[in-house]
Amino acid sequence: PSHLSIQNGHLMSGAHDLVDLADRFGTPLYVTNEDQILDNFERYESALSSCYPNVRLLFAAKANGNLAVLRALGRAGAGADVFSSGELMLALRAGMKPERLLFNGSSKTTDDLRLAVETGVRVSVDSIDELNQLSRIATEQKKTVQIAFRVNPALEVPTHPKIATGLATTKFGIPAAEILSAYQAALDAPYVVPVGLHCHIGSQILDVEPFARAAAVMAKVAGEVTDIGVNLEFLDIGGGLGVPYHRETDVAPTPEEYAQAVMPVFLEGIRENGISPEFWVEPGRWLLAESTVLLTKVNSVKRAYKTFANVDAGFNLLIRPAMYDSWHEVIMANKADQTGVEEVTIAGPICETGDILAADRLLPTPEAGDLVAVLDCGAYGYAMSSQYNGRPRSPEVMVKGDRAELIRRGETLDDLCATMAIPSWQQE
Ligand code: LLP
Repeated sequence: PSHLSIQNGHLMSGAHDLVDLADRFGTPLYVTNEDQILDNFERYESALSSCYPNVRLLFAAKANGNLAVLRALGRAGAGADVFSSGELMLALRAGMKPERLLFNGSSKTTDDLRLAVETGVRVSVDSIDELNQLSRIATEQKKTVQIAFRVNPALEVPTHPKIATGLATTKFGIPAAEILSAYQAALDAPYVVPVGLHCHIGSQILDVEPFARAAAVMAKVAGEVTDIGVNLEFLDIGGGLGVPYHRETDVAPTPEEYAQAVMPVFLEGIRENGISPEFWVEPGRWLLAESTVLLTKVNSVKRAYKTFANVDAGFNLLIRPAMYDSWHEVIMANKADQTGVEEVTIAGPICETGDILAADRLLPTPEAGDLVAVLDCGAYGYAMSSQYNGRPRSPEVMVKGDRAELIRRGETLDDLCATMAIPSWQQE
């Protein structure tokens, strides 16, 4: 990634020596480069808006919900796709305006729907049952709520099955065959105004063609929906491009290639339908992944069946390798100019065989005290962390230019008990 470089044998993020940051803030440590986030945002946005002026980027807050990340993107002009009341609250506290937010989700609670109506955000409705609940709540509050429906586009996409969300068999969205009756119900429902159409086909897709197919499905549905009298103000195509985690083998499309494949389909569709909605997209991974490294220290080295470098971060802090067999590149941050001489497996501290951050990587000879940088951890990294095995979560640091500050303190051992209680009968 472009924020990373090597100086005096150390891995740098922008102007910051990552070995120094690890010494100053401790390990494990997440380090996020704000300049990289803003560069990526600008590139994605300009690729799309050079094809069509009315483009809105809604950052998928699930990828990284830190207030500092949301605030950086909000100030750059992004909105957010929020998937829970928590993400809604975070986006608002980061200073994003409600009109820039879309409340998504296939299983919202009554409290979620109430908060959506109160705060005046738009809602992507995932079932007719949910529409009826939302209308009831909006009627109680005497407040109009603008909605989109999430259509299930019934598309197969090339990605890990756990994150292919557009298949007909998934829990997401309303089948295309039922989408017109959903919009009709919305037109008839009090205090609800249908203004958008939403879909999402999946994540970590390294091909533009599935997105073009999704745009075609959306254009078709948009035409039918317009015909029954819905005034579509936006079409939201869901998440963004995947990223080339595996730099040697992944062939990754650029945002420009994405725009060239998707926008003509969208433009053709809206021209045929005689409408001019905004084009919305909800990238998470592409904006954030490369901005962040996870720094983890080698506690010990074991030469057994393989060479294991036992580090202080495991799937408690980065679950992607264990959960999706994901590849993350690793660099020995304090020996960044040394060539690899040995196959090393970077093993976390968790009590499970699957707690391997990276297997069989050609690295400089590891020793206790070395600092390993795991790359591309800005999306679905800290966001999916846990306290499993009694491990307090790490701090997060943000760097920008020559400045580096904590954006989240590390949890302490006391924090592990902070929300627990001993029941009264155990105290007698
Ligand atoms: N919009 C919706 C409705 C989504 O469900 C998602 C991701 C996004 C947008 C953002 O997609 P992106 O641009 O990041 O591909 N934890 C998994 C990824 C789960 C993605 C779920 N939905 C991972 O670590 O690979």
